Amino acid sequence: MRAFKGYVVFFVCAAILALSAPCLGNSHENTVGIRFDRWHVHVVNNLSAGKTLFAHCKSKDDDLGERNLAPGTEFNWSFKEDFFGSTLYWCYMSTGQKHAALDVFWVESDHSWLQYRCNWKDCIWIAKDDGIYIKIIPENRDEFSHKWEV
Ligand SMILES: *[C@@H]1O[C@H](CO)[C@@H](O)[C@H](O)[C@H]1NC(C)=O
Ligand SMILES: *[C@@H]1O[C@H](CO)[C@@H](O)[C@H](O)[C@H]1NC(C)=O
Repeated sequence: MRAFKGYVVFFVCAAILALSAPCLGNSHENTVGIRFDRWHVHVVNNLSAGKTLFAHCKSKDDDLGERNLAPGTEFNWSFKEDFFGSTLYWCYMSTGQKHAALDVFWVESDHSWLQYRCNWKDCIWIAKDDGIYIKIIPENRDEFSHKWEV
């Protein structure tokens, strides 16, 4: 009987732990540390003077097409990281006179520069007159990242 009670207590504790684990743990990692997050990448036109932003973003096997973004608008897409951690998206952007090419999503394993800025969910790249910024979501500020080339 005593052994049975002990078993019940153990079982109840194990069940509580199992149910609460997702809250306690790092919610963006599963128990074996493999990420299967769904990410969003955003490209925002924050150029002044009514300028259109041209953007062409792609990955190895996903061409998102050529976009002309009206002032103040954005385009965005979402995807799951591939199993091998090789997901990479990059964009070519142009204001008409100036242009830039940059990686907008890559997988990090030994640091979290991008993941932190994206808050493990949304990578927000913002084209401004002096260059391209990335939003640091946890700090709610835009950080200069790439300058335009002429
Ligand atoms: C650029 O961003 C600022 C701050 O979010 C906003 O106030 C402004 O209206 C934006 N301008 C354009 C042209 O998108
Ligand atoms: C994605 O972009 C569209 C415009 O193309 C916008 O209406 C929508 O709000 C954006 N979605 C998110 C999650 O920001």
